[in-house]
Amino acid sequence: MRSHLFRINTDPKASMFTDDGNFAKDFITLNFACLACHEDRTVEWAGANAKGIHSLGR
Ligand code: HEC
Repeated sequence: MRSHLFRINTDPKASMFTDDGNFAKDFITLNFACLACHEDRTVEWAGANAKGIHSLGR
């Protein structure tokens, strides 16, 4: 999935799409932001680790 959204919602329960599935909201969710690389992890793991990870200067 491709988009130009950059804001990540770090709530593991958040849904990126409206209930009818027709529209994306204004953020991406952890499954799209993290799990494409971290395939063996869960959204709960990603949510617990998301703040500040992979930021510049770390
Ligand atoms: C483009 C691929 C990619 C994406 C997307 C990505 N990561 Fe990573 N991540 C890596 C790689 C590669 C490493 C190991 C190298 C390093 O530590 O810099 C890593 C390491 C980590 C680590 C430390 C090592 C570990 O496994 O405990 C954490 C925590 C982590 N990522 C969390 C996240 C979270 C949370 C997100 C989403 C906000 C995310 N990553 C998105 C590639 C990615």
